[in-house]
Amino acid sequence: MEKISVMIVDDSYETRSNIKQLLSFSRNIRVTAEAATGEEAVVLAGEMRPDVILMDINMPGMDGIKATEEISLNMPDSVVIIMSVQGETEYVRKAMTAGAREYLCKPFSGDELSETIIRAYENEMKRREKFAPLSEKKEMKSRVITVFSTKGGVGKTTIASNLAVAMARSGKKRVALVDLDLQFGDVAIMLNVSVKNTISDLVKEFGQLDDSFAEDYLVTHFSGVRVLPAPVKPEYAEYITANHVEKIINILRESYNYIIIDTSASFHETVLTSLDMSDKILIISTLDLPTIKNVKSGLDVMETLNYPQDKIHVVLNKASEQFGIRFRDFEDVLRRQIWAYVPEDSQTVVTSANKGFPFVMTRTETKVARAIIDIANELMRELEGGAAKKSPIKRLFG
Ligand SMILES: Nc1ncnc2c1ncn2[C@@H]1O[C@H](COP(=O)(O)OP(=O)(O)OP(=O)(O)O)[C@@H](O)[C@H]1O
Ligand SMILES: [Mg+2]
Repeated sequence: MEKISVMIVDDSYETRSNIKQLLSFSRNIRVTAEAATGEEAVVLAGEMRPDVILMDINMPGMDGIKATEEISLNMPDSVVIIMSVQGETEYVRKAMTAGAREYLCKPFSGDELSETIIRAYENEMKRREKFAPLSEKKEMKSRVITVFSTKGGVGKTTIASNLAVAMARSGKKRVALVDLDLQFGDVAIMLNVSVKNTISDLVKEFGQLDDSFAEDYLVTHFSGVRVLPAPVKPEYAEYITANHVEKIINILRESYNYIIIDTSASFHETVLTSLDMSDKILIISTLDLPTIKNVKSGLDVMETLNYPQDKIHVVLNKASEQFGIRFRDFEDVLRRQIWAYVPEDSQTVVTSANKGFPFVMTRTETKVARAIIDIANELMRELEGGAAKKSPIKRLFG
């Protein structure tokens, strides 16, 4: 049997060491992570996906109850066991309401500890078998969304990464984000994930590739999104072909509900493959003449590809009429309706990119985050059987 991975969350170093010591005697359990604060626990839980989390209640900053709530909402596959001291019954009750499955009263013996961990884990396994979500069954539907533009710097990466995060957070959807900007991709930087492998390494191993193997090449962002980063050096891009891209997308389709693809501003064969294989394409534009002209010719090219009308959605980023071009004029030139508007908000967008925290997670109150969350919801609605909306998602924002 594979060992049960455990994360210990406690602000006291001594307590963590003691627990580790107690667990070192168990053959079935392995401590894979430690966190000293609630915030750290949430981030690490997202990255490490431990089977079981031992959670202290009282910690400075985000306490164990809040952390439990966050984790059971976003990483429901990790089982939280609350550690409390005698007399904290009110807290324990709150923690159980927040999603903890078991609790342990401090001080506990090694046997008590490992028995509780194993019991909680086994119960979780039983529960999962019973209520296996769609994603784990064969009939899983997988959808591909490519974020594209024939113009650079219009916000493709910003929109693709925040869209992926918004979709992952909206429910139990498994989301992969592929950086197909093969020369200059910066998804990994924008999401601040540490890159171990990239699409180049994956391509090198082709031949013996199956989907469980491919999984190892994706890194987990703490939102749950699994990222396949672009090559670390621009010159590696040329080794990646349309065939590779097709194969990668097909492999990811086996395990992900949504595959979001960020692209470079070109019709390179790899991008074309991704466009062909997409269920939806978001064309990103801004409201300045060079971009509009460029996007227009991009759309003309796509017309020759004979994609169905509702496969392509035009998204206007940094949308504002204040620089002299009106939305209506833009639509007239493109001969297409604007499907969604994303407002300009450098403060939020740039700060979030610099910190590596997607704004759809950390700044949900902003209009720009709201716009992307609306796009995510509308795409999911369309892709799960609803008809495409005739009117744009949001006409105006103040
Ligand atoms: N809605 C927005 N409001 C303010 N700034 C934005 C917005 N969207 C994107 N930006 C900023 O515009 C710049 C370009 O964005 P991004 O890197 O996402 O574009 P891109 O199309 O992926 O570019 P490239 O073609 O270089 O890959 C970044 O500095 C980003 O922070
Ligand atoms: Mg980009």
